[in-house]
Amino acid sequence: MQDEGGTQVRAWVEYFRDLGVHDFYRRGEPAPRVACDVDAGPATMNAAVESGGPFADETPSTPPVAETILVPPVKLISFNELAPMPSAAIPAAEREAALRAIEEEIGDCARCPLAYAGRHKIVFGDGAATARLMFVGEGPGADEDAQGLPFVGKAGQLLNNMIGAMGLARAEVYIANIVKCRPPGNRVPEPAEANTCSQFLLRQIDVVRPEAIVALGATAATYLLGVKQSLGSLRGRWHNCRGAKLAVTYHPAFLLRDPRQKAEAWKDLQMVMRELGLAPPARK
Ligand code: URA
Repeated sequence: MQDEGGTQVRAWVEYFRDLGVHDFYRRGEPAPRVACDVDAGPATMNAAVESGGPFADETPSTPPVAETILVPPVKLISFNELAPMPSAAIPAAEREAALRAIEEEIGDCARCPLAYAGRHKIVFGDGAATARLMFVGEGPGADEDAQGLPFVGKAGQLLNNMIGAMGLARAEVYIANIVKCRPPGNRVPEPAEANTCSQFLLRQIDVVRPEAIVALGATAATYLLGVKQSLGSLRGRWHNCRGAKLAVTYHPAFLLRDPRQKAEAWKDLQMVMRELGLAPPARK
């Protein structure tokens, strides 16, 4: 039987995470190390419930903890700080081959635990090696894991519509994720997983050299920019990532859950369109 209470709490936590609210349940807790419920994923439900947070009425006050591990604090490092920028751009005609070389280097990757967590296909990235615009999501879901391509499920359909509304075809942009393997149960990638995978996304960005990057959701923004802030505080202004202008907007999966925010996302995309001189397609 499904644990309805737990599922509901998880949905709320994911909703808040989409908004970039990561630590609302740990407010005031000075401890540098946090206990995790191994089964439920790091610092998730139990910690949320312990504080008597927004879900206190619906969940037991002392949920069972199967086993606890200690998670050391993780220092976030922006993609700009991770490695110096290459001195020269790769010529446009050589970029596809350069991307293929990165993919070959990744191979049948076993560098992080996601390799052993039920992954079927590594989702390297997709699109034009010379794209002016790059989208970065969080990590593959079930559809992406099955097909080996990013954003091909329901969220992908919405992303395709967003790209179309900007006057572009999907094949004209480049799409990748913070992690290339599906986190089990579509959970948020762990810092160790994201940090292990970052080196490859960083090199993809350096090869493609997009003029603009759109970070889709809080996870992409957190790792690309090396800051953990609410999505609201990151949206509506330009950031920098590997020489590209970076805008932050809502993840399409979040927009599917809360379509009222689509108008806000459209404002973010319009900011990008102005920067790239794009116009929406003429209405038929
Ligand atoms: N969500 C993501 O963040 N990336 C995908 O590729 C698909 C869904």
